[in-house]
Amino acid sequence: MSELDTTAPILTIDGPSGSGKGSISKRVAEKLGWCYLDSGALYRALGIAAIHRQVDITDENALAVLIERINLEFKRNTAGDWGVYLDGEEVQGQLQTEDVGRVASKIAIFPLVRRGLLAKQQGFQKQPGLVADGRDMGSVVFPNANYKVYLTASAEERGKRRYKQLIEKEINANLRNVIEDIEQRDERDKSRLASPLMVPEGALYIDSSSSSIKEVVQEVLDLLNNA
Ligand code: DC
Repeated sequence: MSELDTTAPILTIDGPSGSGKGSISKRVAEKLGWCYLDSGALYRALGIAAIHRQVDITDENALAVLIERINLEFKRNTAGDWGVYLDGEEVQGQLQTEDVGRVASKIAIFPLVRRGLLAKQQGFQKQPGLVADGRDMGSVVFPNANYKVYLTASAEERGKRRYKQLIEKEINANLRNVIEDIEQRDERDKSRLASPLMVPEGALYIDSSSSSIKEVVQEVLDLLNNA
């Protein structure tokens, strides 16, 4: 495993829930052969730890203590896929549920939680480069990133994408509720005082409402090629 290298180039991709950041970031990282940081997965894994250990998710200090006690790792599983491990147990399969997303969004408002996860995220800067996906990658975690993107889409479109994913996974869902949940999460992510979701200075703004994943990936790669 390569080591932290603060000279390695960074591409940040920020944006709201369901904007396609995850799919785009992973594909871009693959094309470039760069490392990938899914910062939302860290908040989600912390949420799972809080649920498992019955830590009060409204208690900022208790959550800060929890961060010190847990061991979070990104590593390959036996099938060769990247997974998130919490205290040695793979929790990848639990990360994407609506409940975990809601808990992650609630605990992410706390400055002590954000501070606790900061160094962990910055530790992903490795050669030959890093694609960092989140809400505050270009604004707080990597403000000096070489390339910055802000990716969004309308709440309606993001809700439809999320709904489709849930139905494909045979998870019961109601489109109206999914859109409302996305709108509430947006509101929480944008209005919080600690590192609110924002368009970082100098970021390329991409609205993917009517674009395919392939088109957006190309737009991001063009940003690097034309720099
Ligand atoms: O990207 P995601 O949906 O997996 O993120 C889950 C929650 O974590 C999201 O509602 C807000 C929080 N989050 C954050 O506050 N900052 C980040 N860099 C990434 C995620």
